[in-house]
Amino acid sequence: MATPLVIHDRNVMRELILSSRTIGRRVGFVPTMGSLHAGHTSLVDQAVAECDDVVTSIFVNPSQFGPQEDFEKYPRDFDADFNLLARHNVCWIFAPDVHEMYPPGDSTRIEIGGPADPYEGTLRPGHFSGVATIVFRLLQAVPSHAVYFGAKDWQQVLVVRQMVHDLQLDVQVMTCPTVRDTDGLALSSRNTYLNESERNRAQTIYAALQQAEQNWCRGLAIDTIEQKLRDMLTAKEIQIDYADIVHAESLKKISEVSQNTPAIFLIACRLGSTRLIDNILLPSRAFSSC
Ligand code: PAJ
Repeated sequence: MATPLVIHDRNVMRELILSSRTIGRRVGFVPTMGSLHAGHTSLVDQAVAECDDVVTSIFVNPSQFGPQEDFEKYPRDFDADFNLLARHNVCWIFAPDVHEMYPPGDSTRIEIGGPADPYEGTLRPGHFSGVATIVFRLLQAVPSHAVYFGAKDWQQVLVVRQMVHDLQLDVQVMTCPTVRDTDGLALSSRNTYLNESERNRAQTIYAALQQAEQNWCRGLAIDTIEQKLRDMLTAKEIQIDYADIVHAESLKKISEVSQNTPAIFLIACRLGSTRLIDNILLPSRAFSSC
């Protein structure tokens, strides 16, 4: 266990990373909004395994929350996060305040099309612009070799990859598998909002995705697979924002599956006032993993 150094200033952060790079060290970066759980630390562990020095940022980014969303009540516990990151051998914690990332008078945003348009992009206008803007600014402060994201937020991964490609940013985007609770619910900082009944019902989300995967492998029609999943969620009074099987890269709806179509089942749903997203990558129907 090493004690991480906490940095608040973006220029100081940048200088530390550049010094580390100068002496040939590989730097990995895990951006987060804090309230850390085992999903976040799985990204940290992968970064620690692949890099010499690892930075984690903790910054609840106001520009990615809509006006009616949970920015104010988003859980924050810096001391717990610090202790967890220390146990996972993070070298630096970058914890800027809002003015450090959005100086007074700031009025610049990054707008991304393509994968940022459907689903979360439509239902949370401005969300991906906020994500892209902060990830770009964080990468300026933390000019790492590799930046780590979770597959749980699949669309976010595609948006970041699109930005890195279009703006020719010199960083490798790594994607890590979704970490789940013992009953299958994907870990999320927002799970703390669920009351006991909602938490119990929430396990149906992954159960339904697993059933969908089995139905996919059995060759059922896509409409049928989607309908069965919706029925399972609706039976537990889970409201569905979307539940679609789509092309895993373009996020376009697929109706016919050619042998090698990479497919993913994306879900966003609500239990009471808590909104959760999840997904499952569907194996190629052409291979024996099905
Ligand atoms: P946050 O929700 O804190 O998530 C930080 C990273 O942890 C993201 O890459 C997310 O996909 C990953 N993550 C969250 N839950 C996970 C789980 N159960 N398994 C694996 N990975 C998981 O995503 C954000 O913050 C923000 O949008 C950010 C990228 C930091 C920009 O503000």
